[in-house]
Amino acid sequence: MVLLGKLAIVTGAGSGIGRATCRVLARDGARVIAADRNLRAAEQTAKDIGIDHVVALELDVASLESVTKAVAASIAQFKQPPSIVVNSAGITRDGYLLKLTEKDYDDVYKVNLKGTFLMAQQFARAMIEHHVRNGSIINISSIVARISNPGQANYAATKAGVISLTEIAAKEFGKFGIRVNAILPGFINTPMVEVVPDKVKEDVLRRCPMGRLGRPEEIAEVIAFLASEKASYVNGSAIEVTGGLK
Ligand SMILES: NC(=O)c1ccc[n+]([C@@H]2O[C@H](COP(=O)([O-])OP(=O)(O)OC[C@H]3O[C@@H](n4cnc5c(N)ncnc54)[C@H](O)[C@@H]3O)[C@@H](O)[C@H]2O)c1
Ligand SMILES: *[C@@H]1O[C@H](CO)[C@@H](O)[C@H](O)[C@H]1NC(C)=O
Ligand SMILES: *[C@@H]1O[C@H](CO)[C@@H](O)[C@H](O)[C@H]1NC(C)=O
Ligand SMILES: *[C@@H]1O[C@H](CO)[C@@H](O)[C@H](O)[C@H]1NC(C)=O
Repeated sequence: MVLLGKLAIVTGAGSGIGRATCRVLARDGARVIAADRNLRAAEQTAKDIGIDHVVALELDVASLESVTKAVAASIAQFKQPPSIVVNSAGITRDGYLLKLTEKDYDDVYKVNLKGTFLMAQQFARAMIEHHVRNGSIINISSIVARISNPGQANYAATKAGVISLTEIAAKEFGKFGIRVNAILPGFINTPMVEVVPDKVKEDVLRRCPMGRLGRPEEIAEVIAFLASEKASYVNGSAIEVTGGLK
């Protein structure tokens, strides 16, 4: 129960890594706000885990208005802002550079990079105003930021951006006792990866020393560690959880 008494918000909580993270944080004693653009999916997460531990919230991370409403809703319901913020909302719109549309570029940018920025800024501000100590912000980047897959220019660029924003946020928020870290998952078995062509998946598995996709829970366990005070000396880092894939 390393997270007993703590309040967490997880974005992208209606699916995949976000949903598994809600489950693991709740298991470790946290109360969890499961936030997703898809409210039904977030409600399903809360129902699966137990509504005593998890409440669902509709949230579009790409909208400043929606994020500020989420901050207000958290404070209204729990009398304090969350001290744990996990940014797991993310999308892909893959395509080769020469064919990539402006819309697919913008959509991925808005959710993955701008969304992480808005979440971090608004929730860190609330933590500081409410004197929440030992805050922990965890951004989900991707190993794709480092292996630069053809066909994923928009996605990879946002995920590389998440790493630099994380490093800077760690420096800027340090004096308020907030640690900021990023996780770089490899290929994890979630709905996001279901749309990846079989040929690409086979290639990834060949290059992955562990020879299999990861499970969402295997990312969630590392997130729970970073959220806890067991990770009190982990700050400004980018941790690969990839089964050895480089
Ligand atoms: N699955 C992988 O292999 C993998 C690898 C590396 C990184 N990641 C990253 O991990 C994170 C989670 O991925 P996943 O595999 O669980 O994906 P997923 O598609 O299973 O779930 C993503 C969730 O985010 C929600 N979402 C999308 N846009 C949103 C918005 N604007 N506001 C709020 N919620 C929104 C979706 O409704 C969905 O429930 C993403 O940031 C993704 O880029 C995934
Ligand atoms: C913050 O963490 C320190 C140890 O890292 C602990 O002593 C302190 O009680 C914690 N504060 C709060 C408010 O949880
Ligand atoms: C990652 O985390 C920090 C702290 O929350 C935040 O300021 C930064 O903007 C984040 N977002 C991105 C895109 O990395
Ligand atoms: C985290 O590390 C940065 C340097 O990267 C530092 O400026 C900041 O104060 C540290 N945060 C905490 C909580 O000590």
